[in-house]
Amino acid sequence: MARSRPAILLSLAVAAVAIMAFAPAQVSATKYNITKLLEPYKQYSKFNEMLSKTRLASDINRRQTITVLAVDNAAMSALDHYSLQTIRHILSLHVLVDYYGDKKLKKLAHGSTTSSSMYQATGSASGMSGYVNITRKDGKVSFTTDDADATAKPTRYVKSIKEYPYDIAVLEVSSIISSADAEAPVPPPAPVDLIDLLSKKYCKSFASLISANADVFQTLNETKDNGLTLFCPIDSAVAAFMATYKNLTAKAKTAILLYHGVPDYFSLQLLKSNNGVVTTLATASETKEDYSYDVQNKGETVTLETRVVTSSVTATVGDMEPLAVYAVSKFLKPKELFKVVEAPAPSPEPSKRKGKAADGGDDSSDDSGDDTADKGDAAPAAMLARWVTAATTAVAALALLS
Ligand SMILES: *[C@@H]1O[C@H](CO)[C@@H](O)[C@H](O)[C@H]1NC(C)=O
Ligand SMILES: *[C@@H]1O[C@H](CO)[C@@H](O)[C@H](O)[C@H]1NC(C)=O
Ligand SMILES: *[C@@H]1O[C@H](CO)[C@@H](O)[C@H](O)[C@H]1NC(C)=O
Ligand SMILES: *[C@@H]1O[C@H](CO)[C@@H](O)[C@H](O)[C@H]1NC(C)=O
Repeated sequence: MARSRPAILLSLAVAAVAIMAFAPAQVSATKYNITKLLEPYKQYSKFNEMLSKTRLASDINRRQTITVLAVDNAAMSALDHYSLQTIRHILSLHVLVDYYGDKKLKKLAHGSTTSSSMYQATGSASGMSGYVNITRKDGKVSFTTDDADATAKPTRYVKSIKEYPYDIAVLEVSSIISSADAEAPVPPPAPVDLIDLLSKKYCKSFASLISANADVFQTLNETKDNGLTLFCPIDSAVAAFMATYKNLTAKAKTAILLYHGVPDYFSLQLLKSNNGVVTTLATASETKEDYSYDVQNKGETVTLETRVVTSSVTATVGDMEPLAVYAVSKFLKPKELFKVVEAPAPSPEPSKRKGKAADGGDDSSDDSGDDTADKGDAAPAAMLARWVTAATTAVAALALLS
C-alpha cells in the first residue's frame, strides 16, 4: 500500500465530513448492520434472529473493530433450553471486541492469544469469564474459555463468512463456546412500572402527562422491554411549558410526548461518548415527519438540541437495560411544532434597531447596508456551525476507529 496511515485517515476524515454535511451521523448506527450482513446466509438465520431478539445486533452495530463468531442453525439448538437473558450472555461471548480476520487467525503470533468479548465489555461477566482464548494447534484454530465445561468439545474455527478489515469480521465456528459463567441462570428483569419510576424522582409532572394519554402510555410501556431511552423534563420544566402544552391540539400533544422517547437503549456512558442524531417514537408515529434531534456532549454534559431549544441531561432517573430514563432541564420542543431558533447571527435584530434609533436621519442608507451585511454574514456562520459539528462528529468517529 502506497499511502501512509495518517494520509488514509485524513482522506477518511474528509470523506466523512463531506458525507456528514448532508446526512448527519446517527448516534446508533455505524457503517455495518450485522442483521443485513448475515441476511443472505440462511444457514445462520437462527443465530441472526437471536442477535436481534437479544438486542446484541444493535450493540454490534454500534462498535467498530469487532469479530462475530456465528454458528449454523444446527449448532444453535444447544441454546434451546436457556432463557433469553442467558442466551444474551452466551452469545455476547461470541462477539470479540477486536478484529480477527482469517489471515490474522492463520498467523497468530506464538500460536495463541486472549481476546476480550462483549460479555466482558458489558460488565455481566465475573472474573476472567468474559475472555476467550484463541489457540492454533496443528493448523486448527479453537476458541475456549477458562470456565468451559471439561467435557465440551472445543469450538473450532470453520471459515470466514464476511470481512471488512479492520472494522468487522464475521466467522463461522463449529459450536457454541462453553462457559459456566455465561450459561448460569439470569433472573428475569424485574417488571418496571414506568409511571411509578418517573413519579419517584424529578419527573412527577411528566408522569401525569403520560398517564393522562393512553396512546402514549401504551407506546412507551410496549417499547420499554425492547430498548427505550426516555428523556423526562423535570417538574419545573413541565410547569414552565404547561400553558403552551395546553394550547396544543390532541395530535400535537401525543407527538410531543412521544418525542421524548428514543426507541433504543443508551447508557449515559454511550450518550457521553457519541454525538449525533436520534430519531424518536414521534418519528415512528408521525409519518413523513422528522421529529429527531441532536445529541451533543459539552464536556461531561449531554445536551439535546432540537433547533428550538437546547435541553440538558441533569440526572439518571433509572438505568435498567433495556430501559434508561434521564431527567432533562427543559421540555423538548420539536421544530415540527415550534419556530426554529437560528444560531445567533453576528448582527442580531435588536442591535440593528438600536442603531436605527440613534442614527436618526441617515437611517435608510444605513439600513440597506446593514441588511446586506446581515445576509452576507449569517449564511456562512450557519454553514460553518454545521461543518464544525460534522467535523467534530467525524473526529469522534475516527477516535472510535483507532
Ligand atoms: C438492519 O438491517 C435490518 C434488515 O435489513 C433492518 O430491518 C434494520 O432496520 C437495519 N437496522 C438499522 C439500524 O438500520
Ligand atoms: C487462556 O489464556 C490465559 C492467558 O494466556 C491462560 O492463563 C489460560 O490458562 C488460558 N486458558 C485456556 C483454557 O487455555
Ligand atoms: C405494561 O407492560 C407490562 C409488560 O412489561 C405489562 O405487564 C403491563 O400490564 C402493562 N401495563 C399496562 C397498564 O398496560
Ligand atoms: C394560546 O392560544 C391563544 C389563541 O391562539 C393565544 O392567544 C395564547 O397566547 C396562547 N398561549 C400560549 C401560552 O401559547
